[in-house]
Amino acid sequence: MTRTFAGRDIIDLIDMERNEFMTILDTAAELEPIARSRRNSKMLEDKIMVTAFYQPSTRTRLAHESAMHRLGGKVVGFSDAKMTRAGDFYQETNWDTFHMLQYYGDVLVMRHFNERAPYEAAKASSIPIINGGNGWGSHPTQVLTDLYTMRKEKGTLDGLNILMVGDMRMRTMHSLSRAMTQFDMYGSYCAPPEMSMTEEFQKELTQRGNKFEIVESVEDAIAKADVIYMEPVIQPDYTLSRDEVPEDYGITPKQYKITKKLLVEKAKSDAIVLHSLPRMDELTQDVDNTRYARYWEEAFNGVVMRMSLIALVLGKMQ
Ligand code: CP
Repeated sequence: MTRTFAGRDIIDLIDMERNEFMTILDTAAELEPIARSRRNSKMLEDKIMVTAFYQPSTRTRLAHESAMHRLGGKVVGFSDAKMTRAGDFYQETNWDTFHMLQYYGDVLVMRHFNERAPYEAAKASSIPIINGGNGWGSHPTQVLTDLYTMRKEKGTLDGLNILMVGDMRMRTMHSLSRAMTQFDMYGSYCAPPEMSMTEEFQKELTQRGNKFEIVESVEDAIAKADVIYMEPVIQPDYTLSRDEVPEDYGITPKQYKITKKLLVEKAKSDAIVLHSLPRMDELTQDVDNTRYARYWEEAFNGVVMRMSLIALVLGKMQ
């Protein structure tokens, strides 16, 4: 039996079934013309979305807010918990904050440094929760955007070969790997040893039927990749602005780096590169204007995907 999305939380992709992925992607395709024509509809004119971001975000928060505006809804919220009683010196509890936020709107989109936070919110609140990233845990809306982009570009998700490059502890890597169990996708994982998939996660993927290999360098798998999916292996020094970072800070080793030269020499001619951004130096800027780059299209697709999710959990689309 197909579960309805109305009133549902979108916290992780672990229990999402293939037909449910398809409903989300098809709904996004149906709503895309609204965003493409840069007009706003009235579908959610009677609804309010609350955003609660305990960690910084450019794309996730603004894509959700833009999506809500495209559907005619209103937005309230905070992008910095320090400006609220949830993050000031008194640190109001998560439970009290989440319980209260339900009274300010009809859907809550949140990002939190604590993996458990969206689950706590789902218990404390009666409105649907959309997880915009929870610690190292999951990033379902980003990965649904990635799947939407892949299907648009490739016409299908089945049969795709994905080269995943970067820190495998990142929440996007978890969510994408879990989504891949529902499709006939093959994964080549390429990460520095200290950032590789945990044995526990490998076991989970094997039990769920994922087909994958672990490679030491992007050069080992790039020739067969339909999609090259990237995350940094160098974390920014958050104490410095980009301008202040010394030149020799965090140079990504060649094995985890994608350049225009490598793509032209080794990749399939129709391979695409996705990156959730922000990037460090693992994806060189000379890739931006090549036929391989799709990470800017993802900014647009990210709005469309959030339109789909908001409309579905608010019961306006099925
Ligand atoms: N892709 C992503 O999650 O970006 P933000 O951190 O800017 O939201």
